[in-house]
Amino acid sequence: MSATVLIVDDEDMARNFVGEALKDAGYETIEAGCLADAQKAIDASEADVILLDVMLPDGSGLSLLDRIALENPSPPVILITAYGEVDTAVEAMKKGAIDFLQKPVDLKRLLQAVDRAKELISMRRELDLLRHPAANQIEMIVGETPAILRIMREAQRAAQASASVMITGETGTGKEVLAQAIRQMGPRADRPFIPINCAALPDTMIESELFGHEAGSFTGATKRKPGLIEVADGGILFLDEISSTKQEVQVKLLRVLEDHAFRRVGGVNEISVDIQILAASNRNLPAMMKEGKFREDLFYRLKVVDLHLPPLRERKSDIPALVGSFIRQINIRTGALITGITPRAIDALKSQYWPGNIRELRHVIERAMLFCDDEVIDIGHLPPEFQETQA
Ligand SMILES: Nc1ncnc2c1ncn2[C@@H]1O[C@H](COP(=O)(O)OP(=O)(O)OP(=O)(O)O)[C@@H](O)[C@H]1O
Ligand SMILES: [Mg+2]
Repeated sequence: MSATVLIVDDEDMARNFVGEALKDAGYETIEAGCLADAQKAIDASEADVILLDVMLPDGSGLSLLDRIALENPSPPVILITAYGEVDTAVEAMKKGAIDFLQKPVDLKRLLQAVDRAKELISMRRELDLLRHPAANQIEMIVGETPAILRIMREAQRAAQASASVMITGETGTGKEVLAQAIRQMGPRADRPFIPINCAALPDTMIESELFGHEAGSFTGATKRKPGLIEVADGGILFLDEISSTKQEVQVKLLRVLEDHAFRRVGGVNEISVDIQILAASNRNLPAMMKEGKFREDLFYRLKVVDLHLPPLRERKSDIPALVGSFIRQINIRTGALITGITPRAIDALKSQYWPGNIRELRHVIERAMLFCDDEVIDIGHLPPEFQETQA
């Protein structure tokens, strides 16, 4: 998402200096030298973020804050004050400014403040998707850090080509969500999508679940049963936690990938299938291969496209957008009417390590919404350990 920053300052030099830095960082900029011009840009909804100087020829920047607050959505404002004007800064924050910087402006701080404002906007955009019902159909991949954008591009190609995909990442990073997204993006969207959690089934069961069996092939197999691979014919088989499969099953899966054929347990006939295989694992497969626990040939055959989802702590700038999308989803599901979350609470969320990744973040937001009697989630609605980090 690109954002347009409105720079309100009466000094040309100051505007140029800040404007160049923002353009270098990938922002679009527009400039205003007085309150009246700033108001015009705001009325035309040209500004996503506003950098506001206080002393302007036609009045105080603070007077603009009240008017900005009336806008819907109201663009986040970062106030620029002269050195030592702490009272002004405090008043501005009360009136809804999200941050303030003192002159002379430190560019690094400035970019941090603008980046943060941009994250707030992406949170609001996610929340506002409510107005576009079509967007609610599938659980969408939220996020725009470079790693996620690259994953989405590659996922799209894999989907269109029906290629095998290996999805790795820690628990809760969204492997299953990504598998579903690949399904939605490809020609098999309305074909079967058959998930099987290899870690949840005993080895013997996995084999007969996947490949099916003939009557009498083992004790208790009284009837012929088709395997999930047959059920998935024409569609997608999602092998979740594939590292839990034993070698025999791995060999058979390799055959399915190479020859598009397999035999039922106890069967003699070859059965041909056309399936796309998506596999996922939160274990370190290369390490397992070294220990001889996972077959290299299968690994290389599976990872025609190899998608590694980064842990949440490596994509913290996606947290506001994720939170926005969770609030929206939970509002719909529970009838809650939460309209947002304070920048303070966002900062507290961003300061965490998140071992449970996106799933854990979702749970924290669910809990916060349960405890929140206001319209806006604040730091007090987060679990106690989130409040300590702010001390
Ligand atoms: N990109 C995303 N955008 C929005 N929500 C997401 C995203 N990724 C994951 N989630 C949320 O996080 C939850 C966990 O995701 P998912 O079940 O896909 O994780 P996983 O990587 O398969 O975890 P595990 O290894 O524990 O099976 C999902 O139910 C969803 O709510
Ligand atoms: Mg999973």
